[in-house]
Amino acid sequence: MKQICVVGVGYVGLVTGACFADLGNKVVALDVNEKRIENLKKGVMPIYEPGLDELVKRNVKAGRLSFTTSYAEAIKDAEYAFIAVGTPSADNGEADLQYVEAAAKSIAKNMSAPLIIINKSTVPIGTGDWVADIVTKAQPKPIPFWVVSCPEFLREGSAIGDFMSPHRTVIGSLHHDAAEKVAHLHLPLRAPIVITDLRTAEMIKYASNAFLATKISFMNELADLCELVGADVKEVAAGMGYDARIGRHFLEAGLGWGGSCFPKDVKALAFMAGEKGLEPRILNSVMDVNYDRRLEVVEHIGKMTGGLKGKTIGLFGLAFKPNTDDMREAPSIDIVRHLTEAGAKIRAYDPVAMDVARPLLPDIEMFDDPYEMAKGCDGVIVVTEWNEFKQLDLDQLKSMLKKPVVLDGRNIYDPERMKAMGFAYRGIGRGMS
Ligand SMILES: NC(=O)c1ccc[n+]([C@@H]2O[C@H](COP(=O)([O-])OP(=O)(O)OC[C@H]3O[C@@H](n4cnc5c(N)ncnc54)[C@H](O)[C@@H]3O)[C@@H](O)[C@H]2O)c1
Repeated sequence: MKQICVVGVGYVGLVTGACFADLGNKVVALDVNEKRIENLKKGVMPIYEPGLDELVKRNVKAGRLSFTTSYAEAIKDAEYAFIAVGTPSADNGEADLQYVEAAAKSIAKNMSAPLIIINKSTVPIGTGDWVADIVTKAQPKPIPFWVVSCPEFLREGSAIGDFMSPHRTVIGSLHHDAAEKVAHLHLPLRAPIVITDLRTAEMIKYASNAFLATKISFMNELADLCELVGADVKEVAAGMGYDARIGRHFLEAGLGWGGSCFPKDVKALAFMAGEKGLEPRILNSVMDVNYDRRLEVVEHIGKMTGGLKGKTIGLFGLAFKPNTDDMREAPSIDIVRHLTEAGAKIRAYDPVAMDVARPLLPDIEMFDDPYEMAKGCDGVIVVTEWNEFKQLDLDQLKSMLKKPVVLDGRNIYDPERMKAMGFAYRGIGRGMS
């Protein structure tokens, strides 16, 4: 059993804390957001993540997981302190490190024994050294510490499974003992462990996210060509994916990537390249292709409905992907804006993200039932591929719609079947449009 402190109880911090507790460690999770900590103490989760509620409650009950807003309390007995605070985009695309800086200073001021400080937040290359400087300067008296990078690769929606069965654990430190100790903590996960220097570990995280985003943008560009030459991008992806050199994941064409990671991480990597005088041509194209998806879908639905002015458009899904309530950089936000600018009225249904979405999209009407939402719509767009949309009663859907127009932004329906049922149907990249 190890004593661990986790700083930040968001998607990464709370999952990290709960999972390490479940592995038998003693974890104190800390956040500056008092409401979040108050709620967690009452068993109310701050985010929607499948399985998290049960995992947290079980480990709190067993006395292995607790919550606090006090740094002194959280790191009193800790051997390891994970920093898992947000690193959002600043206006120029650079990662905003204000939360990391505040966390590092608070750790420094409150530590009373040697500590391994582990950066789990996604941070620009060089941040580990910068954090070490901050801690050294902020310590009231010198106490040994080591900064280690251990980037997180989990995906929202399958975060617990991803954390417990990672493809690899990346550990960055030139300090042999600290790296060994962090490796030891991760041994129960039984994943390959890559031990490297701090900067390389930080780069591995950005490179991985940027590469996955590139795969998706590549397929989206290909989808447009598929429509012009009469090929089906879904079948193309399947045919490509059997090749182990390519892999079958992240080949789905659709409305593009969003969420709290890819957009800010691709931007931050491009910013870092620019800072060093390199023009990040691939990264810039990857972002441009992605943004264009959000415009194109509005153009397509406009054509399908004979113009958007005065029309009512329904959205199936708002979250940036299924199984999460995360609305950060969700394609739905831009899609709603472009539809509204074109004069359409918007209705939406999402199984879990509507509470989070309401303040962001105050002018759209939200419904608790997908069929009610579709009632009277001139067309619907599948924005998020929630499982429950895959098995909708399509006859019922058709009977609810004013016009049977479906733009399937996630390619969840069979085009032939939809057309045979009398829908005006369009997927993404599925043969001649
Ligand atoms: N969300 C993901 O899927 C994911 C996956 C891998 C990596 N990451 C990275 O992990 C980091 C955290 O992401 P997230 O999605 O969990 O963020 P989040 O916004 O969900 O949570 C961050 C938490 O940190 C807290 N916080 C901010 N400043 C603090 C401080 N000084 N002391 C204590 N707590 C503080 C906030 O109140 C919040 O609860 C980011 O760098 C992100 O890029 C995220």
